[in-house]
Amino acid sequence: MILVTGATGNVGRHLVGELLTAGAKVRALTRDPATARLPGDAEVARTADMPLDGITSVFLNPAVFWTGLDDLLARAAEHGVRRVVLLSSASTLDDDPANTLAAHHLEFEQAIEDSGMEWTFTRPGEFATNTLGWRDAIRAGTAVREPYAAARTTPIHERDIAAVAAKALLTDGLVGAKPVLTGPETLTQPDMVRIIGEAIGRPARFAEIAPEDARAEMLSRPYMSEGVVNVLLHLRAKSIVEPPEPSPEVERITGRPARMFKEWAADHAGDFS
Ligand SMILES: NC(=O)c1ccc[n+]([C@@H]2O[C@H](COP(=O)([O-])OP(=O)(O)OC[C@H]3O[C@@H](n4cnc5c(N)ncnc54)[C@H](OP(=O)(O)O)[C@@H]3O)[C@@H](O)[C@H]2O)c1
Repeated sequence: MILVTGATGNVGRHLVGELLTAGAKVRALTRDPATARLPGDAEVARTADMPLDGITSVFLNPAVFWTGLDDLLARAAEHGVRRVVLLSSASTLDDDPANTLAAHHLEFEQAIEDSGMEWTFTRPGEFATNTLGWRDAIRAGTAVREPYAAARTTPIHERDIAAVAAKALLTDGLVGAKPVLTGPETLTQPDMVRIIGEAIGRPARFAEIAPEDARAEMLSRPYMSEGVVNVLLHLRAKSIVEPPEPSPEVERITGRPARMFKEWAADHAGDFS
């Protein structure tokens, strides 16, 4: 049986669906089974209980384990878990020691390697779902306000991350692999705002703001520390001079092209309407 942590998340929910469709047995973890809306075919359990009996492979979402990773890995080894597929991050490729996001994900990767279990580290770049943060502005018809209009990104559809994670859990071909996962195109934020507008049939606007104004707004959001905000702003500025390249890995691994941002926007049009 496969354990999916963060099963209601952007990636986890699609992964549960992919695994069930493939005929796998799935135990899906959530903090609140009553509100999780997980499929009836999955065994749903509470994250706090972390039941590992009968589990052979784990999909590990770091969002669930900011603390407690070592305990989870020790218990997984005791229960005979053979494989861990980690939702890591392309930030791990950044060699800037001030990049706390990279350091955090590299710590996860190292701890899993040290555990002796088989592993795959999926390393996605920026999720397309991050643009859901623009929902209120777009719904209200006001401009999306962000710094660095010329910054570039390769937004990835959460379904593509889930498809790669499913391959890593269901087949042996990705053991020991660290595939970098991106969408198929390089876009600016104004590009993405325009594409969302096209998907909802109503123009959406972008307005560039100063990085210092963005910093104050980002720090007001939950879970945003000064360190993380610094990294996010730094990466955005850096992408103007060193734009990220789309990775071929989603297509190589899944056999189908990575989804374009316009497909993501069509799938999420209801979120912005
Ligand atoms: N966003 C990006 O651009 C990006 C890029 C690269 C890598 N990543 C990685 O992807 C992760 C996010 O993945 P995602 O978007 O699929 O996850 P998510 O949707 O943010 O969260 C997954 C699930 O985890 C549970 N959860 C959230 N916070 C928790 C907490 N403090 N304690 C216990 N459970 C918690 C929630 O489920 P319940 O409420 O049902 O418990 C949530 O639905 C990041 O943490 C990062 O490691 C993100």
